[in-house]
Amino acid sequence: RYFSTPSGQKSKVNLSLNKDSAKVVHSFDIEDIGSKAVYCRCWRSKKFPYCDGSHSKHNEETGDNVGPLIIKKRDA
Ligand code: FES
Repeated sequence: RYFSTPSGQKSKVNLSLNKDSAKVVHSFDIEDIGSKAVYCRCWRSKKFPYCDGSHSKHNEETGDNVGPLIIKKRDA
């Protein structure tokens, strides 16, 4: 589903990151992730692509409910 402005124009998710690129892509080797990595999905992190907690402020301001993607090794 797309979000629309009152004028009907579709809005952007990425407001400020790497806007000179045609597409923002990050790639990580699974072997380099370590025991846990937390990735931003709200596009507001100052440490993008990693989550810095900025989703909390975004959710408060907008009523949204976005949060990070957490990848971790299973507890032994
Ligand atoms: Fe974007 Fe946490 S800062 S998901």
